[in-house]
Amino acid sequence: MDMKLVFQDAAGFQTPLLTVFAVDASIGKDADPLIALLTTSDSITNAAASLIASDEFKGALGEQAMLHAPAGLKAERLLIVGLGKAKTLSVDEVRKAAGAAVRWAKPRGVRQMAIAFPEEHALSDEHLENLPCTLLSRALTEGAILSERDWDTYKSDKKDRSIEGLTIVAPSGEESTTREIQQGFDEGKIIASAQNFARALVNEPSNVLTPTELGRRAAAMCSEKGLKCEVYSTAKLEELKMGAFLAVAKGSVQPPALVVMTYEPKLEKGKQLPKDAPVLGLVGKGITFDTGGISLKSAEGMEKMKYDMAGAAAMIGAMHAIADLNPAVKVIGIVCSAENMPSGTAYKPGDVFTAMSGKTVEILNTDAEGRLVLADGLHYAKTLGCTHLINAATLTGACVVALGMINAGLFSNNEDTCERFTRGLRASGEKFWRLPCTDDYKDLIKSQIADIQNTGGSRWGGATTAAMFLKEFAEDTPWIHLDIAGCAWNEEIKPWHPKGPSGVAVRSIVEWVRTFAS
Ligand code: BES
Ligand code: ZN
Ligand code: ZN
Repeated sequence: MDMKLVFQDAAGFQTPLLTVFAVDASIGKDADPLIALLTTSDSITNAAASLIASDEFKGALGEQAMLHAPAGLKAERLLIVGLGKAKTLSVDEVRKAAGAAVRWAKPRGVRQMAIAFPEEHALSDEHLENLPCTLLSRALTEGAILSERDWDTYKSDKKDRSIEGLTIVAPSGEESTTREIQQGFDEGKIIASAQNFARALVNEPSNVLTPTELGRRAAAMCSEKGLKCEVYSTAKLEELKMGAFLAVAKGSVQPPALVVMTYEPKLEKGKQLPKDAPVLGLVGKGITFDTGGISLKSAEGMEKMKYDMAGAAAMIGAMHAIADLNPAVKVIGIVCSAENMPSGTAYKPGDVFTAMSGKTVEILNTDAEGRLVLADGLHYAKTLGCTHLINAATLTGACVVALGMINAGLFSNNEDTCERFTRGLRASGEKFWRLPCTDDYKDLIKSQIADIQNTGGSRWGGATTAAMFLKEFAEDTPWIHLDIAGCAWNEEIKPWHPKGPSGVAVRSIVEWVRTFAS
């Protein structure tokens, strides 16, 4: 989809379909809806006047109404999309509503469309908290790009042809405002494209996306974006003594892949990063299929376990965006990829392995494999000089039990690092909820015969015991663990997205990285 941003009067913009946003500006729970369009154009307001007066349109988030041949506008059609209550409006609703517009248009044969930039100042201040223009523009752009994707790669009959061109039509106002809108648009394009890249990886079936293929795709992305990339396999894992990662990998005929992507900022001539500048390590769980191994999962829903590499995809996506955004901080992306299989060579409950850090691990359950590959990935990141670590993983069913599919889990051993992450959530619009991993829980992963065991041994606090295991390998390095098991796959169809990979965490990780840019 070709995205454009123009500054002109939306009423005079020639397009097959112009979108305008509407809010419900009523106050109080039981009040009748009071629809207000987020535009200062009298022509658009007049064109929509009878629809608004009809009470048909309630302004709910993602609600759509269509007018053909709207009077006084150059557009052939006017699509009105609801943003919900004005009182609770955030940029996130704009991201979703932009997506709802695109997903309305796509199956209806629309190939070119436009969106009138939401002019929140069309409402009085008592209704709206001031939404930062850059974030608004970014969310609008992201929403359009993300929603355009349908996961029909493997369908012979692709019903929904793509939207070929989408233009955001913003008012030509003050120079500072147009600059902010332009910046948000440019960033939104970069970030949403990166997120779509991650989603496409997660969508791939495991017979196509083996660890080796995941390494190949990461390397191809890196070469396109000018990032350094190394892809290693069994021999290198043995050389590095990655006993935990190797234990998981050995049950499969598919060799593991350890991917190391390095981003060095392009600084102005003569400038250098200070010697003590942070180096960020992004570590992703890349289990291309999780059968559970010898502790085999039940058949029901097992097909979904192709998404067990969504953490790795998030890191590859984040590196994709970072390369384009060029923040002034060094970032190393590490993907630990393997297939978790039951076989004659598979690791077994009761086995003991020595991780790269030297810690010995007793295996209680071979289905708790993600923490094993990450243990070596996190330790390796430290040996490469990373001063701050973040990992993402579809790690535990327990996290889904705790938080459902709305919030992903957030764990950290460091307040400053964690605060940087939560600060970024406003811009990313993603939802993470912090859960504990304090040393009170440490005893739960003590092993009878080794240093630690790979599960808490009971059902209780499963998301936290998994985090405690990872914390043993982050040690004193400031670290964040994102458990995205419940949020990496959209189980429900929404007006702004189909069922399928969500690409969760890409946007938030990128925001976190940007807080370190000097
Ligand atoms: N990949 C799964 C996590 C998962 C489970 C994601 C269900 C989505 C839905 C992970 O490797 C796993 O199997 N974890 C086990 C850990 C247990 C054996 C301690 C789990 O959560 O059941
Ligand atoms: Zn598992
Ligand atoms: Zn898993």
